[in-house]
Amino acid sequence: METKKYYDEFETIVGDIITHSEFQKLREIDHHGNGLYEHSVAVGYYSYRVARFLGMDYASIARGATLHDFFLESWQGKVKTGKGLDRIKEMHGFSHPKTALENAEKYFDIDERQADMIVKHMFPLTPVPPANLGSWVVTAVDKFVATHELVFKNTQPIKRLKSMMSKA
Ligand SMILES: [Fe+2]
Ligand SMILES: [Fe+2]
Repeated sequence: METKKYYDEFETIVGDIITHSEFQKLREIDHHGNGLYEHSVAVGYYSYRVARFLGMDYASIARGATLHDFFLESWQGKVKTGKGLDRIKEMHGFSHPKTALENAEKYFDIDERQADMIVKHMFPLTPVPPANLGSWVVTAVDKFVATHELVFKNTQPIKRLKSMMSKA
């Protein structure tokens, strides 16, 4: 089956990430009714497919995209203490790309382009636009997947990726 070919290739590219014990902790964090692990793998997979279709460096983009939300603390209900601009900086939407980048650099080898994919994926909420086409793919796919999750909350829309994740 054609799709299986893509799943297998994606798994080969990101296998070390999705099976890593720190990355596995994303399973415990909720994200629009789905685990953050599932969200991250879905964004990684669809970014990989788009990049492959467009003839881009899909292996690099698959890895950057999979790591885009690699933060390990739950953000719902987190107490914020800052005021004014500091308060805004504390907001999850602004702060988590940097946390994800720190974790990605700590546990994996990532290059400058992948760092840009991670740290810019919330654009335009964070004001600096992506510096390369791969980052644009990741930010667009992230919004698509997150919207899908919100619309189909708790229905686990990314079922086709389930068997792959359960193997991880
Ligand atoms: Fe994010
Ligand atoms: Fe995301």
